[in-house]
Amino acid sequence: MSQRHRKSRKGGRSQRRRPQRQNDGPPVDLTISALGGRGDAIARLPSGEVVLVPGGAPGDEVRVQLHGKRSGVRRGTLIEITKPSPDRVTPPCPVADTCGGCNWQHVSLQRQRAEKATNAARTLGISVTQIGDPPGKGWRRRARFHLRQVDGQLRGGFMATGTDALVATPACHVLAPPLDTLPARVAAWASPWLEVGEGLAHLGKEGVILRVQGTAKKLPKPPNEETAALLGVVGLEIALEGRKLHWGLREVTLAETADAWPVTVNAGGFSQAGAEANTAIRTAVKTALSTLTNLDGARELFAGSGNLTGLLLDSAPRVTTMEFNAIATERAKRTLGDAGGRLTILTGDASDPGPPPVGKEVWLLDPGRPGAKKTCGQIAEHRPAAVIYVSCAPDTLRRDVAILKTGGYTMKRGWWVDTFPHTPHVEIIALLTLE
Ligand SMILES: C[S@@+](CC[C@H](N)C(=O)[O-])C[C@H]1O[C@@H](n2cnc3c(N)ncnc32)[C@H](O)[C@@H]1O
Repeated sequence: MSQRHRKSRKGGRSQRRRPQRQNDGPPVDLTISALGGRGDAIARLPSGEVVLVPGGAPGDEVRVQLHGKRSGVRRGTLIEITKPSPDRVTPPCPVADTCGGCNWQHVSLQRQRAEKATNAARTLGISVTQIGDPPGKGWRRRARFHLRQVDGQLRGGFMATGTDALVATPACHVLAPPLDTLPARVAAWASPWLEVGEGLAHLGKEGVILRVQGTAKKLPKPPNEETAALLGVVGLEIALEGRKLHWGLREVTLAETADAWPVTVNAGGFSQAGAEANTAIRTAVKTALSTLTNLDGARELFAGSGNLTGLLLDSAPRVTTMEFNAIATERAKRTLGDAGGRLTILTGDASDPGPPPVGKEVWLLDPGRPGAKKTCGQIAEHRPAAVIYVSCAPDTLRRDVAILKTGGYTMKRGWWVDTFPHTPHVEIIALLTLE
């Protein structure tokens, strides 16, 4: 689920723990003032120095053991909550304290969102509108989980905070049913033949597709209708050290895109993790596009499988997309075609977004966490009339917006979406224009 879950893809069984840290003086009493963009709570020493305190909630009065500095910032361990914040809640998931998936479950959803709103406004430097209202439970339609031996038995779940230990999850709070119980069901089914591995699943309009990959004790029977019914999936792939077995669908349609311009995805492919959040992102992009009249064309950079391409086709007479993952571009070609000669789908590096615009163009970019520094440098040179930047990483967005502003762009509007409730992750959509 989070980065932490992905750490152990190698499938090793060691349980790596953080090295013991040196205490830095006696414990100190502090008040938590905010939540940091990486998930830890923030407090300040009387000197003004920032201390990161995992597990704190804004408004908590806490006793903290300091552990010196890392990357110039003091670290602390929460040893006692002397007065809990009114925004502190009992985590709805019973394994929230150990599982590394959701680090904000002890904070009310309302306060989580207030923190994200502040972060979004600070990032864009204007007031930013919240869009969409994804539920706090069962919002996630894409999962990557681990399958490991625990006490001689195969178990399914996610990684514990700060370690490589598995937290077996009977029912994950944030996964949408029927994905929520899938890790446990897959572990029970695969235990006669799987040594260690992981499961990748996607819930789409047609149902769940699942890929199980890893190291086998022996080869399983090829999957069939019975296996699919047992697991509640419409497609199943088993990939074991070069051997692949398959049954049923290989792709499903993202339900929120099913009507005009359908987008499909395979079990391990990228999609926005929540359908409600994706609907909100798409609404923000549509709203941004509705403010741009008489467009001659649109360019989409970091286009993936075409999640936002249909919105551009609805607003501009011709659209060119760029994405470096050939599997994603092939899928986009299959589902979107050439839109009657109006759409060109290119496989390539968006660091070089191609020739200057012809007439009035909007360029939309939706990069991953590293952002789009080079691309923004190119945009500032080519000067399309408008830029829509969709970002999952406020720090790289801030850097890239500064490049665009130096190139003459003005920040016009901004929206933010609570893409990952119970975690610090947020999506920000910015509209910049030349006038
Ligand atoms: C956050 S995803 C967005 C995809 C799509 N817009 C969506 O909503 O599903 C970022 C995409 O950028 C692609 N990507 C990352 N670096 C790239 C680069 N240098 N050139 C082209 N595509 C890139 C990734 O493969 C991924 O599909």
